[in-house]
Amino acid sequence: MNELTRRLWEEQDRHPGDRLRLFTTVADLAGGRCVLYPGSFVDVAPSFVYASVTYVDSDRRAARFFGDASGVNEIIRKNRHDPAKADWRFIAADYRTQLDIPERSVDLLVSLYAGFVSEHCSRYLRPGGYLLVNPSHGDAAMASIDPRYSLVAVVGSRSGRYTITERDLESYLVPKRPTDVTAELLHGTRRGIAYTKSPFGYLFQLDGDL
Ligand SMILES: C[S@@+](CC[C@H](N)C(=O)[O-])C[C@H]1O[C@@H](n2cnc3c(N)ncnc32)[C@H](O)[C@@H]1O
Repeated sequence: MNELTRRLWEEQDRHPGDRLRLFTTVADLAGGRCVLYPGSFVDVAPSFVYASVTYVDSDRRAARFFGDASGVNEIIRKNRHDPAKADWRFIAADYRTQLDIPERSVDLLVSLYAGFVSEHCSRYLRPGGYLLVNPSHGDAAMASIDPRYSLVAVVGSRSGRYTITERDLESYLVPKRPTDVTAELLHGTRRGIAYTKSPFGYLFQLDGDL
């Protein structure tokens, strides 16, 4: 493994196993096989759980990290419980451009701290597929006003453990102050909305014929 790969992964995994626990919890509810992770940087944790993951990032360090394929495979091997081989690929690109991925093909779209992923990449998600999104860059709010999506679960985090609830969903995504949440507002602020409850993230499901 290259020294840079090792250092980048050490920094990414500074709370050891945190993202493994997140994706394990999400997979328990959402299942699925193929994942698309735009704005992944070097977060390879989905490959510890899922069979096939496409990572997309425009940062040069991410390209160098994934360019060390044997180093990345070593990280995956050390952390993956399922002995079946995990397929992955990295696309060095701006996720707002057309990506070389069939539309309506992936089971899970991941949007964590990387801007409006749902706005640009939902077309790659299959009907009935899931969006995992956290609120930090406004993408959870964007998904909440996207008529193609329904909120199906909330992901909580406490002391490094993740939980999923499918109950009382109407009590989430309620702005603290009356706010007309629009795409224009979110594009302008690029921040999340202050909600009365602040869980780690949300799972939305894409509507449409399965
Ligand atoms: C704060 S990091 C988050 C990394 C990872 N999602 C995580 O949660 O650990 C945001 C990443 O998104 C990438 N990013 C932001 N906008 C992007 C875009 N339009 N296209 C591709 N990558 C993007 C950045 O290059 C950066 O690596």
